[in-house]
Amino acid sequence: MKLWGGRFTKEEDQAVHAFNESLSFDRRLYRHDIAGSIAHVKMLAKQGIVTDADRDAIIAGLEGILADLEAGRLEFTKEHEDIHSFVEAVLTERIGEAGKRLHTGRSRNDQVALDMKLYCRDQADEIRGLVKELQKVLLSVMEENLETYMPGFTHMQKAQPVTLAHHVGAYFEMFERDRGRLSDLRARLNRCPLGAGALAGTTYPLDREYTARLLGFDGPTFNSMDSVSDRDYLIELLSALSIIAMHLSRFCEEIIIWNSNEYRFVEIDDAYSTGSSIMPQKKNPDIAELIRGKTGRVYGALMALLTTMKGIPLAYNKDMQEDKEMAFDAIDTVKDCLKLFAGMIAAMTFRKDVMAASAKNGFANATDAADYLVNKGVPFRDAHGIVGQLVLRCIDRGIALDDLSLEEFRAVSPAFGEDVYEAIALKTCVEKRTTVGAPGPDAMRQVILSCRERLSEE
Ligand code: ARG
Repeated sequence: MKLWGGRFTKEEDQAVHAFNESLSFDRRLYRHDIAGSIAHVKMLAKQGIVTDADRDAIIAGLEGILADLEAGRLEFTKEHEDIHSFVEAVLTERIGEAGKRLHTGRSRNDQVALDMKLYCRDQADEIRGLVKELQKVLLSVMEENLETYMPGFTHMQKAQPVTLAHHVGAYFEMFERDRGRLSDLRARLNRCPLGAGALAGTTYPLDREYTARLLGFDGPTFNSMDSVSDRDYLIELLSALSIIAMHLSRFCEEIIIWNSNEYRFVEIDDAYSTGSSIMPQKKNPDIAELIRGKTGRVYGALMALLTTMKGIPLAYNKDMQEDKEMAFDAIDTVKDCLKLFAGMIAAMTFRKDVMAASAKNGFANATDAADYLVNKGVPFRDAHGIVGQLVLRCIDRGIALDDLSLEEFRAVSPAFGEDVYEAIALKTCVEKRTTVGAPGPDAMRQVILSCRERLSEE
């Protein structure tokens, strides 16, 4: 049944219907659509626009539809264009006349705007929870690895020693900002568009404050044309998801490198790896690669919506129906990625001995050797040159700075003394870095306290 039968004389073409419909994908909004309708009809009755008897019949009908959909007793039938027309048609089929009064003072334009906001609000909360679960996993890795030494890299070259706790802590901070972004956009979206009508409000005496409060909004939106044509909140959500995906992807990239035969810093659990159909020795980091790869479709959803919205004049235009499919896909994708990623980290083995050996063998302590000379009164530029020469000798012989004899140190600079070994030991190099945010275990312990605190705030 069509909602606009009065004005039209021809049956809709099949291909046109298939192209125009959105029920095949906006059906996932059914809970939000029904919640919005229940709030709307409560308000209509309070304002004397429908009778209490009609209100009760409509609410009972809508609750029945919800229960039947949840239980799989009611099917989405193809002839309906979208979730809004579907629910209204089933309602009228079930309760008769009263069902036809539900849409009083409302348009599908403010209805879909409401549904999408309610959906995004729920998703933002759920995703914020998933990010937090991941942060908890990261925090436990941090707590256990305050003294797990590893090389810190710049340009993919070993630079200075850090700890695994410190490296993982960097991602904790990224995800903390992601949670912040989700809270920010949730707070900004929390005004209710219902009552904006098609674009210009309505002549019925609606109480928009009341519906807004019933639905947990801070209040109604302020401009009816903006209310029906705003999708900023969805763009913000997709931006936040894109940044989450980017963070996950970077971490996956590192894990893939760390898991490689050359590095062997970590071993991804069998459950998160796959074998090869031809090469028996292989154990591939598929899950990490897929999470990295799925970043593309999340960015794609953001770019698609930005592009769709850029040429739309006020107010509602059907282009806006294109806000859904890719956004839903991006939301599903990021949720899956967050869950899989947290599981992969929780099950991963960190090879502490390999990490420490790599830090020791990569001259990650060269800066510390130079600083040692500076403390003995050598100007930094000279110290830099002296240690550079020592490094060159070590490379020739395939050894670490720590392996040089005192005579060899002193042959290049007499400023070296017996205490150099202690000064350039991995443990010392890391422990001396005690400023806030540095890898020294004492500094890290302070940060971990703050991480715990930030996770417990709501
Ligand atoms: N399915 C539509 C959408 O997702 C609902 C709004 C339809 N409004 C309209 N005037 N055709 O955007």
